[in-house]
Amino acid sequence: PYPLYAELRKTPVALQEDGSYVISTYREITDILHNPHLSSDVRNLSRPTPAAERRDTPSFINIDPPEHDRLRRLAMRHFGPPCTPGLVTGMQPQLTEIVSSLIDDFANTQLVDIVDDFAYPFPVTVICHLLGVPRDDEPRFHQWVNAIIDSLDYDPKTDPPEKLNLGAQATDDLHQYLGGLLEPRHDRPGDDLLSRLANDDGPDGRMTDEEIISTANLLLIAGHETTVNLITNGMLTLLRHPHVLQRLRDEPDLIVRLVEELLRYEPPVHIVPWRAAYSDITIADTVIPKGSQIMLMLASGSRDPDRFDDPDRFDPDRQDNQHLGFGSGIHLCFGGPLARLETQIALSELVRRLDRPRLVTDPPPYRPSPVLRGPIHLHIEQS
Ligand code: HEM
Repeated sequence: PYPLYAELRKTPVALQEDGSYVISTYREITDILHNPHLSSDVRNLSRPTPAAERRDTPSFINIDPPEHDRLRRLAMRHFGPPCTPGLVTGMQPQLTEIVSSLIDDFANTQLVDIVDDFAYPFPVTVICHLLGVPRDDEPRFHQWVNAIIDSLDYDPKTDPPEKLNLGAQATDDLHQYLGGLLEPRHDRPGDDLLSRLANDDGPDGRMTDEEIISTANLLLIAGHETTVNLITNGMLTLLRHPHVLQRLRDEPDLIVRLVEELLRYEPPVHIVPWRAAYSDITIADTVIPKGSQIMLMLASGSRDPDRFDDPDRFDPDRQDNQHLGFGSGIHLCFGGPLARLETQIALSELVRRLDRPRLVTDPPPYRPSPVLRGPIHLHIEQS
């Protein structure tokens, strides 16, 4: 997609035939993400999308202030850094243990699929720990999450309708399961996110049970495939840049800057497609009328040569790397600290433990989605 983005950037604010606007340059994307007249509530679109009609309890990614800020603050207080030391703060040893045990299972196998064998199960296992899902229920939980994530890129032309039905059924089952998990935590709280949210007596008041469940759902869905893709895009990028892979073996501390550069160079979220103009918005001398849909091409902004020197070069030594991988403004990714930590540990351990890994097919097969970018499979051979 990157040559296409270079074309798009010639018109930073472009009106499409369907009346939506595509924003592709770094300055305009950041300006607009900080504009108070921008809404994440799809009901503010003059032509609502099907998703807007389906949604009953929206989660805070699709809610505007002040309600957004209350829910986000409540969730953030218990989730963890950077605002407060929460559940994520002490997770490094646990994450390393999960990663090690996943790698143990294929350490002696010649052919490995980084997606199925590793990147896919990892984040969902982590979120199970955070939410307090008992170990015995994890396989069921994984199944629901897989069905929901699969149904998100449903294509009526190529996919059987069951895929959509399985997704809807899994959403109901998961909703009911989370409700069952939450209920006893009102009286007997443990040290997990659901318990903490159910018993918060802070200045923002408690979340209702429905709000807690929709927040738990949001963390699951927003944090799953994105993290899968960052880990997979990371492994692919390292295998395409063997000198960087070797450097990472010699200098393990490089991983922090390397993951930041990955978020700029090969990010999982390419487009934020669901913004609406509350009122007329003027940007780069163009007036975007109230009710218009605005699509933000984050991955294009992160490759904008007016903001980044030599933007098509993967350079873990890059300074001043304020990429758009996690968005910007009030909806800046909530799970950034966790996603960073997960990816740092995942890539460090893969590089340390895989024996002379080689790509089997380059490029690998990709998901069809233009919004979320990452390979469906990443087969590698090791000695
Ligand atoms: C928001 C990317 C991992 C939870 C966002 C946004 C982006 C993003 C671009 C902004 C969306 C917008 O402006 O509408 C990513 C990437 C990830 C990742 C690339 C992995 C590499 C996670 C994880 C979690 C998470 C692990 C939680 C466990 C959220 C939530 C929001 C969000 C709750 C909404 C924040 C708000 O509306 O205030 N993410 N994310 N994300 N992300 Fe992530």
